[in-house]
Amino acid sequence: MKAQILGIGHALPERVLTNADLEKMVDTSDEWISERTGIKERRIADPDMATSDYCYQAALMALEMSGITPEQLDLIIVGTTSPDMPMPSTACILQEKLGAWNAGAFDMEAGCTGFVYGLTVAEKFLLSDDYQYVLVLGADMCSRFVDYTDRNTCIIFGDGAGAAVLGKGEQDFGMYSTFMGADGRGGRHLSIPGGGSRHPASEESIRNGQHFIIMNGNEIFKFATPIVEKVAAKLMSKAGLQTSDLDWFIPHQANMRIIKSAIKRCGIPMDKTLVNLEKYGNMSAAAIPVALSEAIIEGRIKKGDLIMMVAFGGGLTYGGILMRWGRDDANVS
Ligand code: UT7
Repeated sequence: MKAQILGIGHALPERVLTNADLEKMVDTSDEWISERTGIKERRIADPDMATSDYCYQAALMALEMSGITPEQLDLIIVGTTSPDMPMPSTACILQEKLGAWNAGAFDMEAGCTGFVYGLTVAEKFLLSDDYQYVLVLGADMCSRFVDYTDRNTCIIFGDGAGAAVLGKGEQDFGMYSTFMGADGRGGRHLSIPGGGSRHPASEESIRNGQHFIIMNGNEIFKFATPIVEKVAAKLMSKAGLQTSDLDWFIPHQANMRIIKSAIKRCGIPMDKTLVNLEKYGNMSAAAIPVALSEAIIEGRIKKGDLIMMVAFGGGLTYGGILMRWGRDDANVS
């Protein structure tokens, strides 16, 4: 028995923030951003939208493809670092929007690895008899935590949400192997220090900019490339496969230089690597599910394709999923 994705969806804000726009806001250039990151533009959420609103749109799309009703969901997991508010969880807010009254709901804070962590946890629930259908989201609105006077971070992040409805099947589709890892020693390299129990919101915390994302880009960069290779090796050895068996690789969309260096180490060609960071920037936990959803909708990923997804991010966290795209005949509505 394997956990399978039965439906996938995504949602993106309409507002586009281009490199040319950023040139007017901070001391940067389209040339620098393009060369150093590969990003050309990113989407920024409207002021009246919250993370759960984009989750809702993405979830409706995934539910429609799956043929599952909200009442059939047993569990909702939202991978996010930008929840609507500290309490209640974004997953509970989404549960109400969907009317998914039979589902348990919780958020999973694993930075950019949120969707991959969410899929991994969902798989473990689905391997038990108690759970039939789980909705997993990767959604972030980093723009709400970015200091748009800090050229180190404001050029990178964009907003979005991706959703997957998971069920189970007997045929050869679904998740072959999963892997989750973390290295808390590197947590200080990517953080939002204010707003929690350590530094509660205060006039001082606001004055000190403690509610903004603080990032040591070089340290994350050094961490990322070898970790992608390590996760890929774990996934492949658990499944008894090799990277040459892959049809598609969906890396976390953080920086084009990280992606190129990682695929070189893993022996994966560029034409098998899905990249969307040029138009969306780094959408944190939403990066991978949005790329997956778009590739499914555009027909690039086909039934039977072997896909590897690898993410890394705040925590520091890392992880991956190896799966074969498709659903059992019994799961096709
Ligand atoms: O999802 C996980 C979260 N984050 C990441 O994955 C980020 C990973 N890291 C990165 O993507 C890269 O480290 C960055 C894109 C953030 C920075 O690129 P870099 O090649 O590591 O640049 P750097 O920080 O070493 O800075 C090089 C120079 C510096 O100038 P000096 O000291 O050499 O004169 C920076 O001040 O580039 C300068 N710089 C900029 N210049 C123009 C830094 N940011 C900018 C900018 N525009 N936006």
